[in-house]
Amino acid sequence: MSEPLFRTPKGTHDVLPEDHQYMTYIKKAVRHRSRQAGYKRIDTPMFEYRGVFERGIGAHTDIVEKELFLVSGPRRKNQEVHSSNGEEEVEFALRPEFTAGICRAYIEHGMQQLPQPVELYSIGQCFRYDRPQKGRYRQFHQFDLEVIGLRDPSLDAQLIYVLTKILSDLRILDRLTLQMNNIGMTDNRIAYMQALRDYFIGKERHLPEEDARRLQTNPLRLLDSKHEDTQILLKNAPSLDQSLSDESRQFHATLLEYLDELGVAYVHNPRLVRGLDYYTQTVFEFWDSSSGAQNAIGGGGRYDGLIELLGGNPTPGVGFAGGIERMIWHMKEAGVTVPNKDQVDVFVAQLGPEAKKKCLSLVAQLRELGVHALGALGEASLKSQMRLADKFEATYTLLLGKLEVKEGTIILRDMRAGKQKQIPFGQAIPEVVELLGKQNLDTYVLRDGIGGVDED
Ligand code: HAM
Repeated sequence: MSEPLFRTPKGTHDVLPEDHQYMTYIKKAVRHRSRQAGYKRIDTPMFEYRGVFERGIGAHTDIVEKELFLVSGPRRKNQEVHSSNGEEEVEFALRPEFTAGICRAYIEHGMQQLPQPVELYSIGQCFRYDRPQKGRYRQFHQFDLEVIGLRDPSLDAQLIYVLTKILSDLRILDRLTLQMNNIGMTDNRIAYMQALRDYFIGKERHLPEEDARRLQTNPLRLLDSKHEDTQILLKNAPSLDQSLSDESRQFHATLLEYLDELGVAYVHNPRLVRGLDYYTQTVFEFWDSSSGAQNAIGGGGRYDGLIELLGGNPTPGVGFAGGIERMIWHMKEAGVTVPNKDQVDVFVAQLGPEAKKKCLSLVAQLRELGVHALGALGEASLKSQMRLADKFEATYTLLLGKLEVKEGTIILRDMRAGKQKQIPFGQAIPEVVELLGKQNLDTYVLRDGIGGVDED
């Protein structure tokens, strides 16, 4: 094979048909469990005014500071837009996550008029200009669930319960540990951040450069620092739970009680903080039980101040996002196989103009009944058509040569057994349907009884 002229950009990948089997399976579980729990689907644009993310996620988070994909349109003649520092102003950014965009949509469409809470879910691509490595891509897929409009620990518990159902449907729940924490309301956090800064006075020079900078911009992130020196220094630092208000403590205790009631296993992790600034109170992540925080398959929490920050009325919310690529990785590691929805049930081979005509409608009718049917309607010999049927791994082959046309028959070959029989042409469809079994046909009925196409 010659060297391709172009390859996928660094940090991106093609989702090939094999992986789509997993992707489809995950999306199905998400849609099913979300709908059961009253969530409705929303799709927001893949890019937004960059302010949505800068304000929402926080200007000093890694996601905004280092990882935002900025997008600009074509430059119009004589157009010069410069920001205060003289650099060209870029208006838009590709979404690094869903929450900020969904909250923007909640405000824009007056969803506070709807019965609360408003439960929304989304599935799609996100973009972060991160340094690519295993499990970390520049374009990746998330599914996201948000519950907006009410503040009550029972909502956090119900959301987490739905997630455990999805993860158990994917058969990876037992590989994961749910980490739970409460980081308090904004004023608790401001007080705590000041306490941390005070504690580090005189100790800054022992901090790695990255953490010394974070101490100024986002001191909370020191708690989940990867650097050992920081972790050692933190041993005697004031802890976040000391600065929590009674209300936050109570909120967390009640949430954990509800999780117990629902039979959800968790670990209380007082060091858990998240990489996005909008969180208040509850934060949680699902970690790989064997490797820990490095590759969380998903995380979320409460964001009671976010909607106000984006210009709406004060409105609480809680949500979660899961990384689909990381889930696929876990499923494969766990040996989870998913049904191959792309299998070829029947390959139709033919020879001669009359046979070709008949096969054209035979293939169409089979497909209409939900049989995955392929037909080599080219001019190849029967022998090479059979080889093709083998390569496509078809379960059955229907063969229609000149002789069969004359006799009004057709040959039905079981490819695995290597056996074949001649049957009346009119028998072909009912016989194939019978052999495949009605339950294996690719048809389905929508709730209103009308057949439809599969969703994205
Ligand atoms: P997050 O923790 O930034 O949270 O991302 C959620 C999940 O997306 C991660 O746990 C990970 O599995 C996956 N993920 C993140 N970045 C990458 C990447 N570069 N490559 C592959 N997978 C990645 C959020 O995004 C919040 N919006 C969650 C939320 C919803 N909070 C409230 N509502």
